[in-house]
Amino acid sequence: MNAHDMSSTNRSDLAGLVGDIERLETVFAGWDDTQQAAVGAYKLAIESLDGEALRRLIRALKTDPAALAAMKSAIADEVVYAVLRRHQIVKASLNERVEAALEGVRPMLASHGGDVELVKVNPPHVEVRFIGACDGCPASALTFHAGVKKAVQDACPEITDIVQVKGLGGSEDSGVRFVSPFALGAKGNWISAGLLTEIPEGAVRSIILGGEKVLLSRNGATVTCFQNACAHLGFPIHDGDVENGIITCPHHGFQYDLSSGECLTAPEVSLQSHAVRVIGPRVEVRISV
Ligand code: FES
Repeated sequence: MNAHDMSSTNRSDLAGLVGDIERLETVFAGWDDTQQAAVGAYKLAIESLDGEALRRLIRALKTDPAALAAMKSAIADEVVYAVLRRHQIVKASLNERVEAALEGVRPMLASHGGDVELVKVNPPHVEVRFIGACDGCPASALTFHAGVKKAVQDACPEITDIVQVKGLGGSEDSGVRFVSPFALGAKGNWISAGLLTEIPEGAVRSIILGGEKVLLSRNGATVTCFQNACAHLGFPIHDGDVENGIITCPHHGFQYDLSSGECLTAPEVSLQSHAVRVIGPRVEVRISV
């Protein structure tokens, strides 16, 4: 398969478009410097043209109060927002700035086996929750005030009330509904991977965790997580068909058992597994390096 084969796919669904971009980037990464420079210049030229068109469109819309109001509500759409942000046409939203502030303290929290998640932004009020080893840790009050609260207030002066809401409370293990068998007893380095209900039954969820592209799949409250990279040529597999717990790589058809990562096409290889645990409604992943 080459870049032309993939870009000619007429995709209208968002996940498909993102998958196309990722596959094309994988192809480009294998090209030599001259070819990569040509692709970069072509991309920049098109993006510059798109950006100029969007700026002109928005300048025109701003002259009409009704259109301006409609435009503001359209920016609430995450795709519209992401594209306008990419062209630096809109400023970072409050949510984005709060998330960026939390991102800044995550390495410090991760070094203690913990993490923090944003629960709610309702200016001037923000709620955060400690997870992993920070949840219930006696030092979490100090971590909250010296680290998280200061980082958010420095980045977002309009936030004056930052509250730490309780996690599941008590020990790290309370409320545990599932842990990958190979990670039983593992402490620390668990990263929040969202809610169990965000992982569709009979399909997969593709996300980036700790800088790694991963796939989540579930059967009830039993969740598995794998590197989103086919053992054949390393292409992402999240667009593959899933049937009876088996995913088929969309590129050359390698098949994998989503309960184990085992490759049914070439049994000597498998998907790389990451440990998962489910605590109450939340999913956490421990990225293997
Ligand atoms: S990349 Fe070839 S089968 Fe997946």
